[in-house]
Order: sequence, then structure tokens, then C-alpha cells
Amino acid sequence: MSYDLTGKTAIVTGAAAGIGAAIAEELASAGATVVIADLKQETAEAQVAVIERAGGTALAVAADVSNPKDVEAMVAFAVEKTGGLHILVNNAGIGGPDVSTGDYPLDAWHGVVNVDLHGTFYGLRYAIPEMKKAGGGAIVNIASMLGAVGFPGNPAYVAAKHAVVGLTRNAALEHAADNVRINAVGPGFINTKILDTNLDEAGKQFLKDQTPLGRLGEPADVAALVGFLVSDRASFITGSFHMVDGGYTAKLPQRRADIAPARSRHCRRAGRHRRSQFDNHLSDMLPEGTGAPWMKARGPDPASPQGPGLRPTPI
Ligand SMILES: NC(=O)c1ccc[n+]([C@@H]2O[C@H](COP(=O)([O-])OP(=O)(O)OC[C@H]3O[C@@H](n4cnc5c(N)ncnc54)[C@H](O)[C@@H]3O)[C@@H](O)[C@H]2O)c1
Repeated sequence: MSYDLTGKTAIVTGAAAGIGAAIAEELASAGATVVIADLKQETAEAQVAVIERAGGTALAVAADVSNPKDVEAMVAFAVEKTGGLHILVNNAGIGGPDVSTGDYPLDAWHGVVNVDLHGTFYGLRYAIPEMKKAGGGAIVNIASMLGAVGFPGNPAYVAAKHAVVGLTRNAALEHAADNVRINAVGPGFINTKILDTNLDEAGKQFLKDQTPLGRLGEPADVAALVGFLVSDRASFITGSFHMVDGGYTAKLPQRRADIAPARSRHCRRAGRHRRSQFDNHLSDMLPEGTGAPWMKARGPDPASPQGPGLRPTPI
């Protein structure tokens, strides 16, 4: 099955890395002119170069999606440079520290919600009027499988991603008559660069074992679905929430008896044990310090572009 996005302008936020970069490449390979929006102009330009080397067309713009003025300017840039806006992928997102609700730092809460939820709203708020002028459009909000289920230790992220799904449904109802389709996608464990650098082989194997299809997702797995959803092949799809999680959320929760042997094996391999807060939960089965950063971020991360206490890579 193929689709054609020739003549369309698409904005992808957080497109300099990971899932966003793969989505931008997918849309460009289908013929769209893609605006690569990310925090830094240099990293956005580097991704433009990747797309141009592959024969596509792309433009770079620096935008922090948690700042409504940046998002307004990002949309204006796309329209001014290409003449209109037809596609938006609200992909930029961050995780947060691994802390339970009763102790969750207020600044981290606001930081995560500002990017993951407010950033998505700002994208809708400024893109939809331009899509109406263009006669219609398609928007995909990258939520997470954690927009459908809880994950102990990630209250801000889980709440924000659930809210993104609700916002998707509401906006889809409001703008169906404008011919603007709006859908959400829920990636599971996706093999982005940061997961690669933060998980050892045992940790990755553990996540694979938790996934019915037996592997981590690749950014291209998410991009393939997003490309379809923004194309005319999906012209009867709006207000939907689609998982790309290898079957993870289709499972019943595991019983402690089922997972205890796996945990012991894993901890033995890692050569350490720790007392877990959620003894029967996936995140507790990863060895301390080697867990995926969205689960295991402990304490401030001064290097984060979002500021101390926040991690750039969520699930
Ligand atoms: N990787 C996973 O396993 C996974 C799983 C489920 C959902 N997701 C979602 O997919 C999206 C992308 O995740 P990823 O794994 O590719 O992350 P990533 O950290 O690899 O890439 C995120 C990109 O977004 C940019 N970014 C961060 N904050 C931004 C901001 N305020 N404004 C503009 N750009 C910003 C970063 O600079 C980076 O280029 C996120 O919304 C995330 O919640 C990821």
C-alpha cells in the first residue's frame, strides 16, 4: 500500500531525533515538504540535511512547543515558506523523574505537562485555523501506550498522555466538519537512541520479553502508521487512538507469580538487587541505574534541555 503526499506541507515537532525524525523521513519520502521543528536550529538543520540527501524537501525551524509564541511562529513560518499547512504531527515530548504522585516535584509536574499536553494543544490551536484555510488537513498527536494505562512512578507523563488522547477526541469532533482529521498514536517500547545508550542488553531483552511480538519497536514502525493516518488512505479515520506497542497493552496485567522468576534472573544477571516500590511491576524488574530513562530518571538531570529534574526522553 502506498500513498502520496506530494504538494502537502507537514510540520513535525521534535523531529531532530528519534520517532519524530523517522516520521519526518516517512512523510518526506511520500512527497511532502516537511518542516523540522525542534529545540535547536542546528539539530533541526542536521535532520533537514538527512532528508535532502535522501531526495526529499525539508525546512528547519527552532521551536519549543511549551512556548505558545514559538508554536505560533512555527506555524507562520511553514505557511510563509510553503503557502499553506496540511499536516501536523505533535511529536515532541519529554518524560520526568521516576517518583510517585505523593512525592512528585511540582516543577517536574509543570515541566512535563507544559511540553506533553500544553505543547500539543498549542499545535492544534495554531495549526487548525491554517488547515481550515487550506480546505482541510490531518493531525496526529503522538501520545503513548501510557495514554491508555498507568505506569507507577510516572504520574505527570501518564496524566499528560491520557489528556492528549482526550484532547484528540474532542478536537476531532469539533473539526470534522472543517475536514480536519485528528488522531492519536500510542507507541510502546521504541528503540530510540537514548534507550540504546541507557539500557544494557539484559534490560533490552527484558522489555522484549514483556512485549507479545517479542521485540522492541523501531521509530519506523511508528512512522509507518503516522504516514498512513495523515494520508488520504485514512480519510474515514478521525478521533481514534492507535497503539504501536507490539501487543503490550492487549495483555492482562501479569501476576506476581508469573514474573518473579524473570525478575530474579534479570537481577542476578545485573549483579544487584534492590527493594522495589512496586514489586510486581515492570519498572521494578530493571536494575537500578540501567533502566530506561523515562522509568528510571532519579534526581535532577542538569543536562536536560527542559531544565533540571526533567528527562528529554519519555515512553
Ligand atoms: N521512545 C519511546 O519508547 C516512546 C514510547 C511512547 C511514546 N513516545 C513518545 O514519542 C515522542 C518522541 O519520543 P522519542 O523517543 O523519539 O524521544 P527523543 O527524546 O528521542 O526525541 C524527542 C525530540 O523532541 C525534542 N524536544 C524535546 N522537548 C521539546 C520541546 N519542548 N519543543 C520541541 N522539541 C522538543 C528533542 O530535542 C528531541 O529531538 C514523545 O512524545 C514521546 O512521549 C516515545
